[in-house]
Amino acid sequence: MASRLILITIFISISYVDCVQTVNGRVKIFIGLTSGCPNARNFITSQLVPAYAEYGKFLDLEFVPWGKTERHENGTVTCQFGDNDCWANRLQRCVLNHLRGNTDAQLQYMACEYRQPYPAYQLGSFQCAREAGMGIAAADFCVNNPQMDTLDEEAEAKSTDPIEIIGVVPSIVFNDNIDVSTHWQAFRRLASVVCFALADDSSTGVLGCQI
Ligand SMILES: *[C@@H]1O[C@H](CO)[C@@H](O)[C@H](O)[C@H]1NC(C)=O
Repeated sequence: MASRLILITIFISISYVDCVQTVNGRVKIFIGLTSGCPNARNFITSQLVPAYAEYGKFLDLEFVPWGKTERHENGTVTCQFGDNDCWANRLQRCVLNHLRGNTDAQLQYMACEYRQPYPAYQLGSFQCAREAGMGIAAADFCVNNPQMDTLDEEAEAKSTDPIEIIGVVPSIVFNDNIDVSTHWQAFRRLASVVCFALADDSSTGVLGCQI
């Protein structure tokens, strides 16, 4: 019985090691999401925030608020959860761009938007943007002038393959390798997936991962 348990544990460990590995001691996580999505809220608050608290110094995060947005021939876009979803996604692209290079601040900002009362999506509010240090005038200008930058086109391009292959929001991708089973493991237990990847690289000093 005991040996069978050990074998099962080893098997599960190996399958984890197979799925994500470090690149130069780090793990890059792409998170494709959309503002109105309940699963994205749960993932950010219950999985990403705690995993980042534990392993953030090894992580490079990239948030892409575009989700299943569709662009029509007449140039308009429609979002999975309607106009509020589009507005909040656009604001998030603006603020994330404002905070580029500062992963701690980007995560703090996204955690603000994806927890109650969901300021941008639910209230049409700049509250989280302001807390992130982006002035309201600058945020408002960015939201209303998408033709002045390429944030929408970049988000659309980055989201196309993850949405097509993974099919759901949030879409979680490690080190640019789009993989459906790794996505689902990360969706359910991100800290564990990250821990096994880091533990497999002795330079990180990370040990003692739990499933
Ligand atoms: C643009 O096209 C979409 C999809 O065909 C349509 O629903 C929408 O009303 C159109 N918008 C305008 C401004 O023409």
